[in-house]
Amino acid sequence: MAYETIIVEIEDHVATIKLNRPDALNALNSQLLSELATALADADANEKVRCIILTGSAKAFAAGADIKEMSEKSFVEMYMSDFFGSESQAICSVRKPIIAAVSGYALGGGCELAMMCDFIIASDTAKFGQPEINLGVVAGIGGTQRLTRFVGKSKSMDMHLTGRFMDAEEAERAGLVSRVVPAKSLMEEAQSAAAKIAEKSMLATYAVKEAVNRAYETTLAEGLLVERRLFHSLFATEDQKEGMAAFLEKRTPQFRDR
Ligand code: CAA
Repeated sequence: MAYETIIVEIEDHVATIKLNRPDALNALNSQLLSELATALADADANEKVRCIILTGSAKAFAAGADIKEMSEKSFVEMYMSDFFGSESQAICSVRKPIIAAVSGYALGGGCELAMMCDFIIASDTAKFGQPEINLGVVAGIGGTQRLTRFVGKSKSMDMHLTGRFMDAEEAERAGLVSRVVPAKSLMEEAQSAAAKIAEKSMLATYAVKEAVNRAYETTLAEGLLVERRLFHSLFATEDQKEGMAAFLEKRTPQFRDR
């Protein structure tokens, strides 16, 4: 499919989706989010793809929802269209791992989009923020909820109430990002992480996503039960037999997603 606001490349089992509205610092408008949701669903359904990387430009992962598109909207229009609700749900329902490779600004909806991914690798130039307060609104696609779970109430309140930006070092200290790398190595690092993920059994990969995401949705006791049952159920797979046999035979496992 031909996209206008994103670029999709598939190579070596990894789909890389690049947000591509350079004139607006990749601001998220309806077209971009709709194209992104379609591209992610396609990658999820494509048997060749085993991991997805979502990235932007050197200057901006995404500088937020598109203020030009939103500025004149009424409450009725926002509410009745459930603005960005279905796109957010579509992004979060992808079962394959998504790595956000973030350089430059990840603000407002951009920060929220990065947090919808499974983990964030940041370049040392990355800047995260939830500056919606400066526009007289609040975050609208998960910022108050996800940032609080990532960094705790105090820092989340600080970010949302002051609208200040957090640099990559602070984001790593706070647990928002999993690694920080020099800007020039960002894509190499993301591709190397994606290649490692692509080697694993997809059965175990899906189980990891389900179990870790459950940690945000349920009690500890329920989450532990889900994890234990997923662990037990993987013993019904050929990949478990292969993975453990390969370890004992001191060789590389050949996973077949069975
Ligand atoms: N929406 C629409 N256009 C945007 C944009 C956005 N969120 N962010 C940047 N742009 C546009 C600018 O309007 C500008 O366009 P023109 O050249 O046509 O004027 C172009 O991108 C370049 O931006 P700047 O000239 O402002 O670049 P800068 O380097 O001086 O500043 C910046 C960079 C600090 C990121 C600044 O652009 C900025 O503050 N952007 C807005 C950030 C923001 O408030 N994000 C939250 C949006 S609301 C939201 O996201 C709600 C939600 O939770 C869903």
